[in-house]
Amino acid sequence: MNSEELKRIAAEKAVSFVQPGMIIGLGTGSTTKYALLKISEKLKSGELHDITGIPTSGKTETLAKELGIPLTNLNRNPEIDLTIDGADEVDENLNLIKGGGGALLREKVVAQASKAEIIIVDETKISVNLGEKWAVPVEVLQFALEPERNFLSRLGGKPRLRLNGNGEPYVTDEENFILDTDFGTIENPAALAQKLEARAGIVEHGLFIGLASKVIVAKSEGVEILRKG
Ligand code: A5P
Repeated sequence: MNSEELKRIAAEKAVSFVQPGMIIGLGTGSTTKYALLKISEKLKSGELHDITGIPTSGKTETLAKELGIPLTNLNRNPEIDLTIDGADEVDENLNLIKGGGGALLREKVVAQASKAEIIIVDETKISVNLGEKWAVPVEVLQFALEPERNFLSRLGGKPRLRLNGNGEPYVTDEENFILDTDFGTIENPAALAQKLEARAGIVEHGLFIGLASKVIVAKSEGVEILRKG
């Protein structure tokens, strides 16, 4: 099975947990796209109704509108029943690295406002420790780029400014920059998260600690559901 098929399988399994009447957090990325497609299909067939979505990025908002998924926002509906989102890396304790698509800030706000957060990945994203496969996206104020780059280097990371297709700095939905920071294998992600959170110039980081309630992993031999211990 190719990786697109695995993404679709994980996404469709996640959508089976969506019930009529729910407020749904809509994640960002190529895996979540399949969840949006399935939700839209179920709304059209009548299998689902009264669903309202809260998108985690401008990109997801555009896609949801194209697919006819009704939308609301966090100020109108501050509590989300269920969020479905992707991840870049998942460890044995269901901690995550997210932000490969640049939407980490809104994704974390939405995850923290959700009663349940279902993460959908294919098997290539599972690691023993975070940092084995991915750098940590760190969203910084444009104003604070250089001091925060120095801070991340002092912490032992190797920060790299994310660029867009034109070779210019990538700008997030909230008008910040991203420093993709390679920390190598991260033994204690919660401790690293605390250090990052102490800096005023760091708006948010892609370490999602204790936020996933379930991780649906699509493997060639079937779907595995990892649950919070
Ligand atoms: C978006 O900012 C990210 O957190 C995505 O959820 C993550 O990068 C997974 O994306 P894919 O499903 O495209 O791999």
